[in-house]
Amino acid sequence: MLELKKVSAGYGAFKALFDIDMSVQAGEAVGVIGPNGAGKTTLLRVISGLIRPWSGTITLNGQEIGGKPAYEIVAAGIAHVPENRRLFPRLTVEENLKIGAFVHSARGQLRERLAWVYDLFPRLKERRNQLAETLSGGEQQMCAIARALMSRPTILLMDEPSAGLAPVIVDQVFELVQRIREEGFTVLIVEQNIQSLLDVVERAYLLEVGTIKLAGTAAEMREHPFVRTAYLGM
Ligand SMILES: Nc1ncnc2c1ncn2[C@@H]1O[C@H](COP(=O)(O)OP(=O)(O)OP(=O)(O)O)[C@@H](O)[C@H]1O
Ligand SMILES: [Mg+2]
Repeated sequence: MLELKKVSAGYGAFKALFDIDMSVQAGEAVGVIGPNGAGKTTLLRVISGLIRPWSGTITLNGQEIGGKPAYEIVAAGIAHVPENRRLFPRLTVEENLKIGAFVHSARGQLRERLAWVYDLFPRLKERRNQLAETLSGGEQQMCAIARALMSRPTILLMDEPSAGLAPVIVDQVFELVQRIREEGFTVLIVEQNIQSLLDVVERAYLLEVGTIKLAGTAAEMREHPFVRTAYLGM
């Protein structure tokens, strides 16, 4: 459903991604791992239109989306849960959620969408009038995911949802990811928490200095000698 062919991108004169080939099928959960600075966030940004690809093609269900503005890409069905959550701290939970439904097609359905995400995350409903900055880290992550779901995406891009959270909360975040999957969403997720990631995805890519160094099923990645020594500390 989502396909990248020879995608390169960067910032100014700096090239961060080199000829990336990647695909995500409908209903699949796919992981991206790699060290700091490898280009994982850049990869999600280029898919969601926050930065333009320098070359290569990005297609969603056969339609070219590479280089389109971010709002068109959201409308086409790709939602991005950014690194560090990026909630509006002084807005309430509900105000943050409403922002996720800014795409034209979603506006008429605000009530239904809110009811749907509150159904999915009752905790957010209880806290809907609370300022986002006063939520716990895990709740903020839940709010960021829920905000992305407000556009009713077909693919959800998640950038390190467990970053900065206490171990118990990390488990809860991975449970959330599992639930999102069970709801039938297609997921592309960047994570440093590789063990837990490989439990919730079908396949994963290893990105190093802007290139795909390895790709395989979760089981293949878990057993790969290089991944084991360099990333799983075994
Ligand atoms: N706005 C920017 N301007 C210039 N260079 C940038 C910008 N954002 C990222 N970079 C550079 O691009 C490279 C890839 O960064 P990116 O944020 O994609 O890495 P990452 O894999 O997400 O790392 P991390 O695990 O630390 O989040 C890095 O060398 C980074 O310094
Ligand atoms: Mg990053």
